[in-house]
Amino acid sequence: MLSRKAQAINPSPTMTIDSKAKEMKNQGVDVTGFGAGEPDFDTPAHIREAATKAMNEGHTRYTPAAGTPEIKETICNKLKTDNGLEYKPNQVVVSNGAKHALFNALAAIIDPADEVLIPAPYWVSYPELVKICDGIPVIVETSEVNKLKTTAEELEKYCSGKTKALILNSPHNPTGQVYSEEELRAIAELCREKGVYVIADEIYEKLIYKQARHVSIASFNEEIKDLTILVNGVSKSYAMTGWRIGYTASTPEIAGAIAALQSHTSSNPNSIAQKAAVAAMQGDQSCVSEMRRAFDERRRYIYERITAIPCLDALEPEGTFYLFVNVANTFRKSYQGKEVSTSDTFAQFLLESRKVAVVPGTGFGAPDYVRLTFATSMENIEEGINRIEAFTGDLR
Ligand SMILES: Cc1ncc(COP(=O)(O)O)c(C=O)c1O
Repeated sequence: MLSRKAQAINPSPTMTIDSKAKEMKNQGVDVTGFGAGEPDFDTPAHIREAATKAMNEGHTRYTPAAGTPEIKETICNKLKTDNGLEYKPNQVVVSNGAKHALFNALAAIIDPADEVLIPAPYWVSYPELVKICDGIPVIVETSEVNKLKTTAEELEKYCSGKTKALILNSPHNPTGQVYSEEELRAIAELCREKGVYVIADEIYEKLIYKQARHVSIASFNEEIKDLTILVNGVSKSYAMTGWRIGYTASTPEIAGAIAALQSHTSSNPNSIAQKAAVAAMQGDQSCVSEMRRAFDERRRYIYERITAIPCLDALEPEGTFYLFVNVANTFRKSYQGKEVSTSDTFAQFLLESRKVAVVPGTGFGAPDYVRLTFATSMENIEEGINRIEAFTGDLR
């Protein structure tokens, strides 16, 4: 018999659609995939070389459970340079990707029945991670008027005596929106007033476009910094999703709890990947700008093409590599006699008929939307949009 906890957890829908598309591809079907949540670029050469060197020099044994002194020092320098934040190495814990870091953060502060505010749309794993930690996800509605971003006023309505934390993601997956400094300051003030922790997921920090600027909520004052568990990593910025290096920065007390927890669950993250991540963070950053430039070009193209399709609308992304597309105008239309009733059926019919994989918004708490990634080649984007256009043209 499975535990009640295991039974309550849903598998990640983004991974599900991605594996379905990959399975179809393996069977020889010509699928255009907009599902993946990872850069299509290879990890830059100097990072791969650092890993080879690490292996050859014998960095193949256990490291301290919370990461090597070298990587923790490197992360402290990064946080100082990029975010104006002073952390000491004992405040940093390096984990197996940002997802693991998020789990650790929640496990360190959540008691049974504690409430965690999660603005919707949200990254699919947040509610599940909260449930795994015996907390209660409290989904906070947002509006299109504010580009699906939450506000301090809205959040306050959802605060109760049991509110322990807020999970805040900027730049945001799946909407591609970036919170302004002013918006973050208001949210920080509310959290400070209420004594609510902020789990700040900044994994897309370096993927921002146009005038958008990334500001860390922890940077406003010491009080909000003490309430913040900052989560970041190298997966998205350096095309290192498979290497599994993420981290938290928090108070020494929380970091100590996270380190103890990790020492009994996974021990250290991969020793070679730690060396590679050090090379990524310390090395020449032009690889990041090059990838960002390519993403930006695709971003402009995909946004223009999709919003030109009559029954589709989208928020212009300011960050990440996602376009969040409102497909509600296709609902109640039919495809070969079958009604498009939700974004799930939209995605299903699109995959079946035109072999295009998109992620339905249901798993993100946004059933009127589908998510398209532009972390795929221009050629794929062009072909995929042609097919989406043809599909929407077939709807009656
Ligand atoms: C918002 C957000 N946070 C965290 C992660 C996890 O990152 P990692 O691959 O480092 O575990 C992702 C990955 O898709 C993400 O989109």
